[in-house]
Amino acid sequence: MNKNVKRFAVMGNPIQHSQSPFIHSEFARQTGIELCYDKLLVPIDEFTNKVESFFSEGGIGLNITVPFKEQAFELARYNISDRARIAKAVNTLWLKNGHIHGCNTDGAGLVNDLTRLGHNPEGKSILLVGAGGASRGAAPSLLDAGCSRLQIANRTEARAAELCQDLKNSLPQYKNILFSSGLKELQNSAWDIVINATSSSLTPNSNLAIQPLYTSNSLAYDMVYSSNPTSFMQNASQQGAANVADGLGMLVGQAAVSFYIWHGIMPSTQPVLELLRSHMSATEQQ
Ligand code: ATR
Repeated sequence: MNKNVKRFAVMGNPIQHSQSPFIHSEFARQTGIELCYDKLLVPIDEFTNKVESFFSEGGIGLNITVPFKEQAFELARYNISDRARIAKAVNTLWLKNGHIHGCNTDGAGLVNDLTRLGHNPEGKSILLVGAGGASRGAAPSLLDAGCSRLQIANRTEARAAELCQDLKNSLPQYKNILFSSGLKELQNSAWDIVINATSSSLTPNSNLAIQPLYTSNSLAYDMVYSSNPTSFMQNASQQGAANVADGLGMLVGQAAVSFYIWHGIMPSTQPVLELLRSHMSATEQQ
C-alpha cells in the first residue's frame, strides 16, 4: 500500500458485518479519489486510545458505530456540529487544526433517502417511533427539512417527552409542530411518513405494537435494513401504508454525507445502493 494514500476506517464492536468499506470504496471509484478504508474491531475499553493513535499515525477520517457513538461524542465534544450536540452521538470524526471534530450524519442520510424515494419531508406529517439514539439522530434533520408536524412516540412515554423537550429547547423555532406520546394514541392524525427508529426489528419475535393511520400516498420507513421486508414493513402494508422501505438507503446516505465532510464532494447514492443490495444478496447466498 502506497504510504501517501489517504486512510479512513470504521470502528465498532462487533464490526465484521459493516458495509462501510464497500460503500466508501465505491464512492471513491465514482469520484476518482484514491483512498483506503478499513474496518477496525476495537476492544470496549480501548476506544479513545485507538482513535488517538489512528489520527496520530496520519489517518484522515473515521466512522464510528455501535457501541461507541456516545464515546465519540465525548471525545469531540468541543468541536461538534449542532446535529451531533442534539443527538449526543457522533458517527463521523476528522482532524482539523490538530483537534478531533465530530458530526452525526445519520439524520441527513435519512432525509436524503426519503427524498430519493419521492417522499421529501417538506410539508409532511411525520410519526417517528422510538426515543433512543436513532431517533435523536433523525429528529433535527426531519425538522430542518420542513416537516409540518413531528410526533415522537415511544413505548416508554417519558423518554419521548424528554426527547421532545430537548428538541424544543435546542430548536425553539419548531416548538409548535413537535409532539410526544406513547404508542397507543396514534390515531388522532393520519401520517404521511411513519419511521421506525426502534430496535424492535433487530430483536427476534419482538413486534412493534402500533396501529397508525396512513394518508393515501404514505411511506412506512424502517431504519433497519434487511434482504426481506421487516415485520414493521409487513404490518405497515397491511395497515394501509402505500409504500414501504427499509433503511439500506439511509446507510448509504449517511456515508455520502461523511464522504462529503472528508472530501468536499457529494457522491451519487443510487448506483452504490443498487450495487450494495446485489453485493449483500450475493454474500448471503454463499
Ligand atoms: P438506539 O440507539 O438503537 O435507538 P436505544 O437507545 O436502546 O437504541 O433505544 C431503543 C428504542 O427502541 C427505544 O425507543 C425502545 O423503547 P423504550 O424506550 O420503551 O425501551 C425501543 N424499542 C425496542 N424494542 C421495542 C419494542 N419491542 N416495542 C417498542 N419499542 C421498542
